[in-house]
Amino acid sequence: MTDTLRKVFIKTYGCQMNAYDSARMADTLAGEGFETTENADLADLVLLNTCHIREKAADKVYSDIGRLRRLKNERASVGNPLLIGVAGCVAQAEGAEMMRRAPAIDFLVGPQNYHHLPQLLAQAKAGKRPVDVDFAVDDKFSALPSPLPKAIAARGPAAFLTVQEGCDKFCSFCVVPYTRGAEMSRPLARIIAEAQRLASAGVREITLLGQNVNAYHGAGADGRPASLGRLLFALARQVPQIARLRYTTSHPCDMHDELYAAHRDLPQLMPYLHLPVQSGSDRMLHAMNRGHTRGDYLRLIERMRQVRPDIAFSSDIIVGHPGESEADFDDTLSLVEEVGYAACYSFKYSGRPGTPAAAHDDQITEAIKSERLARLQERLDAHASAFTASLVGMILPVLLERQDQRTNRLIGRSPFLIPVNVDAPSDLLGHIVAVHIRKAAPYHLSGDVAANATDILSPASHAMAQ
Ligand code: SAH
Ligand code: SF4
Ligand code: F3S
Repeated sequence: MTDTLRKVFIKTYGCQMNAYDSARMADTLAGEGFETTENADLADLVLLNTCHIREKAADKVYSDIGRLRRLKNERASVGNPLLIGVAGCVAQAEGAEMMRRAPAIDFLVGPQNYHHLPQLLAQAKAGKRPVDVDFAVDDKFSALPSPLPKAIAARGPAAFLTVQEGCDKFCSFCVVPYTRGAEMSRPLARIIAEAQRLASAGVREITLLGQNVNAYHGAGADGRPASLGRLLFALARQVPQIARLRYTTSHPCDMHDELYAAHRDLPQLMPYLHLPVQSGSDRMLHAMNRGHTRGDYLRLIERMRQVRPDIAFSSDIIVGHPGESEADFDDTLSLVEEVGYAACYSFKYSGRPGTPAAAHDDQITEAIKSERLARLQERLDAHASAFTASLVGMILPVLLERQDQRTNRLIGRSPFLIPVNVDAPSDLLGHIVAVHIRKAAPYHLSGDVAANATDILSPASHAMAQ
């Protein structure tokens, strides 16, 4: 009987939106009688939630499928079938071609079609190999089931909540507009309701997600589009149990007055902003179709610092975009010095099929890309070290999220997102405690619970100097 499927192993690649989607898929599959497992060997269904952003990310999926094919064959030989489903951006980008290349796959589902999982699973069990990557006309968010309080609690006190999806920006290098489709925003009331559900199941921190989160323009209570700033004010007012709010990823062209006001007025809004710049060169920003200049970007940073002086910034930077000269790269290095990022992701440009930049004839060699990346990372690490070192001796509010299985220490996050290792009893998990920061590494802090610390109920987010 095929109805003996019980356990699903979900592997998530790529961005936080994929992590959110994996949780939604687990919730959908729970309704089909599946529980999640951390062990692929025990699974009846393996779901790979894939990422197409760079070549390496997509290649990883194929090597994982190769390994799973062997497991699937072994399992078939003992009459214990394993189904393999591929979700996410590689599924969307490659569609039927992926099915031809990897015959072990039983079904494909694109990011806008996760609410169809039950039907796809039924078809896959019947031996069909369905491919569901047409952008769905029905609304996935309304159709996906709400997570049960038990599932929310199991995922810890910090949760993701997708508010916006898709992108209309078409940066020269990026696959996201093709894999996630056009920009759409969820209505404000739905987001508030989801945040309330999370809060009543014990969540203390919510990160609002969107590929272009600050382009959010969901229908507000009056039916008119509300900005991300408005949404943050509404969440702070209507879901007061949420002590911390964050949002990611923002685009420099979509910063708006209400967002600055939110950073000025809402103590719940953490003093940390991920604002990718990609390059410090105006020539490259233009070639990348980013829609802003270096000067525009620096002015945004300055304005944000005025409204929230303790704010820390992070970014994404690409080196070796087609046409990038040594002078362009120097402009990136000097921008890094000017901003002083607390953290920054940096990538070698990776040509992606179907994107305009991949067709340029002035591609940069791998050797130059590697050399520039190393030089950039050396500076980024230096800034990250300086930032974390500046926090040593402070008392910071830390939301304790999980326990390190090996050391038993608790791991939490400072307002600046940087993880903090804390010597503390496990009954403090899920609480925000004052932590005395004792040691710093470039992207990491450690400390101990400050004397007389109790749960910080007021969402105090400013660093409290000792
Ligand atoms: N929506 C976000 C991020 C999308 S992808 C934004 O607009 O900023 C995350 C990061 O991956 C990007 O910011 C970019 O730095 C990097 N990236 C995207 N496409 C890439 C490519 N083709 N090669 C290398 N890095 C890329
Ligand atoms: Fe990609 Fe640019 Fe859209 Fe970000 S803004 S998702 S980098 S196309
Ligand atoms: Fe990757 Fe898709 Fe996210 S390409 S970065 S999983 S939107």
